[in-house]
Amino acid sequence: MTHISEREQELPNTLMLQLQELAAEHKDIISLSIGEPDFKTPKPILDAAKKFMLSGTHYSPAAGRTDLRKAIAQKLRKENKISADWENVIVTAGSQEGLMAALLTTVDPTEEVILASPGYLGYVPAIELADGVPVFVRLREQDGWQINPDEMKKKISKKTIAIMLNTPSNPTGTVIKKKILEEVADIAVQNDLYVFSDEAYEKIVYENAKHVSIGSLNGMKEHAVTFNTFSKTYAMCGFRLGYMHGPKEFVKAVSKVHHYLEICAPHTSQLAGLAALKLNKKYISEMVREYDRRRRLIVRRLNEIGLHTVNPEGTFYALADISDFSNSSVKFAEDLIRKARVACIPGTEFGPYGEGLARFSYANDYNKISTAMDRVGRAL
Ligand SMILES: Cc1ncc(COP(=O)(O)O)c(C=O)c1O
Repeated sequence: MTHISEREQELPNTLMLQLQELAAEHKDIISLSIGEPDFKTPKPILDAAKKFMLSGTHYSPAAGRTDLRKAIAQKLRKENKISADWENVIVTAGSQEGLMAALLTTVDPTEEVILASPGYLGYVPAIELADGVPVFVRLREQDGWQINPDEMKKKISKKTIAIMLNTPSNPTGTVIKKKILEEVADIAVQNDLYVFSDEAYEKIVYENAKHVSIGSLNGMKEHAVTFNTFSKTYAMCGFRLGYMHGPKEFVKAVSKVHHYLEICAPHTSQLAGLAALKLNKKYISEMVREYDRRRRLIVRRLNEIGLHTVNPEGTFYALADISDFSNSSVKFAEDLIRKARVACIPGTEFGPYGEGLARFSYANDYNKISTAMDRVGRAL
């Protein structure tokens, strides 16, 4: 029996997974393709997880443990200035599950979701799995990769349901400016749209860049859904733990979908998440300091090689312009693996406006990044 749904067959085949497998098989390849912290989860979190695991673990309530939801709401109020209510928090299995549940809850077939390209590669398949239609706003390097609200306005139709935002942004490394977020908030209110704000990299910001949650802006209480995750800030990707906070009626509806998708987020991970929220902030600042050191190295080296790269203000990605070397991002990435034994992600993975670009992750050891840049320089 080999019947596979059309829905599945229409999903893009992500090159990213193949590249990761290749890099895992061939130890001489330096992978700058990965989207997860190379740091070990901080010890207090691991200790908490171990303790709870040994005491046996069961389902939690569908929306998550009440103590964790309360701790998340407190964090959102204090750090993100969102007037969060713990009953409007749902704990999810990573933010990817939260995004999927939100789309399944709000989007009917052929309805549209506006999103940026280049943008995170997980959004398009999630929109398509919900039978929605992605509508892209092109990001431009000359705008510092910031989204242009005027272009966004032109993409709104009667079928638009939501605007997907990601700040700090993967793969551009942009931290969206408050002024732009205010304009997007106005667009959402005027057109009665949701803003799905994915803030996975909120703590990984550099120099004077300041992360702002659109959910904290005036009038956004009934429109913004804030998605977050423990994966990046706390190097907890494998725990599969995230959360979302949104308007009361939305949360009531999405709780049902989340329950049927997941029953609940992994319970042991929820207890580890409670420990994470109590973690001494020095663990995070040390990781960010090291990302920053690598960022300076990789951006300088990429530019010296001739791969023009805008200084990223956040995340652990550098998005390079490869157009002087190749007219195909995929071919460029394949050649780089073959000739330099370095893996990057071709820009075409980030939507229709990614051609001519390649993403280099610096969630890797400083010396390995340096060696990778030597090899890329020689190969090019
Ligand atoms: C922008 C963005 N959002 C969401 C995710 C999904 O993260 P998780 O499901 O681990 O929370 C990722 C993972 O790379 C990401 O880059």
